[in-house]
Amino acid sequence: MRRILVTGGAGFIGSHFIRRLLREHPAYDIINIDKLTYAGNLDNLRDVEDYPRYQFVQGDICDRDLVDELMGQADAIVHFAAETHVDRSLLAADAFIQTDVAGTYTLLCAARDHRLQRFLHVSTDEVYGDVPQGHRSRESDPFQPRSPYAASKAGGDLMCGAFYQTYGLPLVIARPANNVGPHQHPEKMVPLFVTNALQDQPLPLYGDGLQERDWLYVEDDCQALDLLLHEGRPGEAYNIGADNHRHNVRVAEAILDLLGKPRDLIRHVEDRPGHDRRYALDWSKLRAMGWSPAHDFDQALARTVAWYRDNEWWWRRVRSGAYQDYYQQQYGWRLAQAARPARGEGQR
Ligand code: NAD
Ligand code: TYD
Repeated sequence: MRRILVTGGAGFIGSHFIRRLLREHPAYDIINIDKLTYAGNLDNLRDVEDYPRYQFVQGDICDRDLVDELMGQADAIVHFAAETHVDRSLLAADAFIQTDVAGTYTLLCAARDHRLQRFLHVSTDEVYGDVPQGHRSRESDPFQPRSPYAASKAGGDLMCGAFYQTYGLPLVIARPANNVGPHQHPEKMVPLFVTNALQDQPLPLYGDGLQERDWLYVEDDCQALDLLLHEGRPGEAYNIGADNHRHNVRVAEAILDLLGKPRDLIRHVEDRPGHDRRYALDWSKLRAMGWSPAHDFDQALARTVAWYRDNEWWWRRVRSGAYQDYYQQQYGWRLAQAARPARGEGQR
């Protein structure tokens, strides 16, 4: 295995993964196919763009001819490309179904036809849906996706399983928890809150803020994905968790504390419809392979916050233009509503 096709490598996790592959596997050549949607950003790979072992191709994973051509040049594929943001999937899910389901199917067909040695599919813990207190999702748990994003990812994940069963495609599925780290698009909670706090703007916390996520440092995720690429058993799925569980309100407070900003920047705003309260993974299968995360919650968050503080050029560019329209649509009315005094308040 020497030639690796990475999809969605200009996004958050994919760009860290490409950097890791170039660093840890000096014999590998990497092709990155990315459509450069609003979430794709070549600034994420500036430091490696001139490497002779790295090639970027702007293209859509739904483009059969292009995918066929690239797959013919690859031994293995790591598939990150997806529409990934839950809130955007609530506004319109067409692109999610197209890329996360149909795009994955296009890749699977080409990988089967070209007899690739390995297909690592990056799924998500969100396919399991809302996880009751006291339970941790196991790889064998049924899927109960509750957002259009999660349902699209579940569709892609199930199609991968079908291609393993039907065609014997050597396929491994990874289901990581919420990643945190540098280069994440500021539509996601942590970078949104950090960059808002840096500008002394309110942090829009959905509902009561007691939803729980497990925060996995992106470099730890990439280390686990690297392990699965090489040692994952075909036909198996693997959860990637970190046991860094926090309520959202605690994450918001920790960000403000790290930046020395007042906690009254937190605004409880109208909740996300269908908001999953809790994700929690049982990742003992991966632990048994010798992997465990190197960063605890405090380390992961401190590194992330420091990166955004030191790389204002990166996020100012991302937050300009069309981002502002999205921000207004998503948060304008929520923040205005939160600022209005409740009925009876303010009346003497
Ligand atoms: P991201 O949104 O930052 O990046 C996605 C990338 O895919 C972008 O560069 C985008 O341009 C590209 N892309 C989108 N549609 C495409 C298409 N049709 N053809 C080619 N490229 C296309 O996402 P991310 O956070 O880096 O997530 C990567 C993967 O990991 C996704 O599959 C996501 O579902 C999964 N995942 C993410 C997290 C997380 O916390 N970020 C957690 C679990 C799983
Ligand atoms: P997000 O980063 O969108 O990831 P996901 O929904 O895939 O877990 O959101 C993480 C948590 O933060 C989730 O419980 C929703 C919450 N959240 C807010 O409270 N406010 C926000 O503005 C955003 C984007 C998310």
